[in-house]
Amino acid sequence: MSKQPSDNIMSKLVALCKRRGFIFQSSEIYGGLDSCYDYGPLGTELKANIKQFWLKSMVQMRDDIVGLDSSILMHPTIWQASGHVAGFSDPMVDCKNCKRRFRADDINIEKCLVCGGELTQARQFNLMFKTHMGPVEDEASIVYLRPETAQGIYVNYQNVLQSSRQKIPFGIAQIGKAFRNEITPRNFIFRTREFEQMEMQFFVKPGKDEEWFEYWKEKRIQWYDELGIKKENLQFHQHGPDELAHYASAAFDIEYQFPFGWKELEGIHNRTDFDLKQHQAYSGKDMQYFDDATRERFIPYIIETSAGCDRTLLTCLADAYEEEDLNGDTRVVLHLSPKIAPIKAGIFPLVKRDGMPEYGHKITDNLKKHFMAFYDEGGAIGRRYRRQDEAGTPFCITVDSQTLEDNTVTVRERDSMKQERVPSDNLLQYIRDKIS
Ligand code: GAP
Repeated sequence: MSKQPSDNIMSKLVALCKRRGFIFQSSEIYGGLDSCYDYGPLGTELKANIKQFWLKSMVQMRDDIVGLDSSILMHPTIWQASGHVAGFSDPMVDCKNCKRRFRADDINIEKCLVCGGELTQARQFNLMFKTHMGPVEDEASIVYLRPETAQGIYVNYQNVLQSSRQKIPFGIAQIGKAFRNEITPRNFIFRTREFEQMEMQFFVKPGKDEEWFEYWKEKRIQWYDELGIKKENLQFHQHGPDELAHYASAAFDIEYQFPFGWKELEGIHNRTDFDLKQHQAYSGKDMQYFDDATRERFIPYIIETSAGCDRTLLTCLADAYEEEDLNGDTRVVLHLSPKIAPIKAGIFPLVKRDGMPEYGHKITDNLKKHFMAFYDEGGAIGRRYRRQDEAGTPFCITVDSQTLEDNTVTVRERDSMKQERVPSDNLLQYIRDKIS
């Protein structure tokens, strides 16, 4: 990324996201809803590709992890057992003058950052969203929107064990929405009140937890490398005793160097047997695992890898964004990995005559069976390239007069801008090889 003030880069990214249909402010025509965002056509593809890439690495390629899709609304006692009702809160202060609200751990001063007014004492503010189930709105009908997907996995662990015939060590992976009534959501989609998590809980024998914790730390940072994120923008941060969540005995964050600083991207936690023990106590159901080989019974320890899907998407965009100087002109390009690029190929007839559009449509229809391909015949060829550069499309295919003679097309590669002539019949294989 070119050297620019960080707020400048963020505002350019936000503008690009709106202009090109990656991300829109939610409820925009009503003035927007704070911290809620909608994914547009390109954002939807990018997000789906990130999730698919995660599922491939965490489930498809492994014999020891299976998937789950649990409901957002769950029995309210789950959140008592998990400790969220009592302890999932942030300290909050209010300005007595302008009434603005801040997270107390974000500011170490006594006066309001905005107006200089006096602040109240810190109070605990529970981050869970509440709603009511059924027609009566009373204490007994309160249910919560889940603040993490993890609990849906813990309460299903026996169901999955029995139905999938997995044996310890094994994992359960889930992607889904989570909700937190954050006091200070900020930085575009970095911290929002509605977001998606990609979580995996790995069940191990007590005593083997530290070994698996190290294993998952390495696996997960490697995943971001495979996603195309620059290594120098990734680091680990170990939680000190005062940072650890109530359920964790050890935790490392994978941090990314965002334009607004190094921030958490994913958490890897040793949750010990805390959650399953709590659910055993609150539900009265036996949460022990029976080991056939050793005839032992024990409550498994859990190593958790917890990534934010929206945060990963922001990371991909920030890491890929570049403004290149091209002969005095600026080329805005997203160097997204072809694996996750929303559109893999743009197809352009050089001119709108002589059978070139028909040829272009035929190629597009063929490629579309395998991945997202986009036909564009509008405007000068240079402008069409630029539009795809901004969308992160790795390959642009041009149909020209030579195509009509020898059935070859030019393929222009986004990052190098190099062009190569490729027989139309080999196009699919050519692009597939480059993507993989
Ligand atoms: N189950 C453990 C857990 O939820 P966490 O560290 O609170 O751990 C995990 O959250 C990940 O979820 C974070 O690393 C981040 O990527 C994402 N996340 C958490 N809160 C978020 C928010 N308000 N907005 C967007 N993503 C969030």
